[in-house]
Amino acid sequence: MPERLTSGIPAFDEMLRGGFVPESAILLRGAPGTGKTTFAFQYLIEGLRQNQPGMMVSFEEFPESLYRDAASLGWDLKAFEQTGLLHIMFTSPEVFLHSLASPESSLIRRLHDHNIQRIALDSLTHFTRLTTNTHELRDIYNRIINGVRREQLTGLYLGEEMRSDFTVDEKGRLSFIVDCIVLLRYLEIDSAIQRAITVLKMRSSDHDKQIHSFNIEDKTAPHDPRIHIGPPLQGKAGLLAGLTERRIISNVRSTQ
Ligand SMILES: Nc1ncnc2c1ncn2[C@@H]1O[C@H](COP(=O)(O)OP(=O)(O)O)[C@@H](O)[C@H]1O
Ligand SMILES: [Mg+2]
Repeated sequence: MPERLTSGIPAFDEMLRGGFVPESAILLRGAPGTGKTTFAFQYLIEGLRQNQPGMMVSFEEFPESLYRDAASLGWDLKAFEQTGLLHIMFTSPEVFLHSLASPESSLIRRLHDHNIQRIALDSLTHFTRLTTNTHELRDIYNRIINGVRREQLTGLYLGEEMRSDFTVDEKGRLSFIVDCIVLLRYLEIDSAIQRAITVLKMRSSDHDKQIHSFNIEDKTAPHDPRIHIGPPLQGKAGLLAGLTERRIISNVRSTQ
């Protein structure tokens, strides 16, 4: 097993001191449009390059929009699927939970038959619809994360950061269950909007504590990163910690 799993974004791997810890649970949180799905495909497409099969589990209702958005970034997902190294599953949170717990399910068979090592769930926020009870939600998160771990997968869990969902997520204690938390944000800096990325937590490893700007660009070569990370934002201490209304333009006011 590799010591670390590369993300497909070399500068981000440096922020993680080499990449993701194998078989860990990574929460990638951000408001809509911050780049979570793009990041997840980057991670899975890097698996293609490393010969580590991956699966995207999407709870979105419109599969075609996923293919179209990826195509706009120069990724032909159907061609990647034909290699047998990328699997895309459209399902519901209920069916996914049930399948993960059933050794005979087509999900588990697919994971085993194709030796899948990387998985991304887009998004965990869909599970908040299953219950309003916070203990139950915590149990659901545990079942997902432990099930994925049992299958020896490195799991990237996307989390929509919306004000109401965030509260429910926190009651589910998601940030305590995962090993690594990556935050994507829109920041208003000097009257311009920038995308920012930071690693909030990484169990059993040192990591970059700074906030980096990043941007999303389409490239023609299939393996070129679409996410480009810039240098740390200097002199912007407290940018995320403070989360002032003036600076944050996403609809999240506070992570506290
Ligand atoms: N071809 C492209 N070139 C540059 N940026 C793009 C392109 N396609 C999409 N984007 C950017 O990617 C963002 C969408 O990212 P996405 O991964 O879908 O976000 P999320 O999953 O967090 O909602 C959009 O805000 C858009 O600005
Ligand atoms: Mg998305």
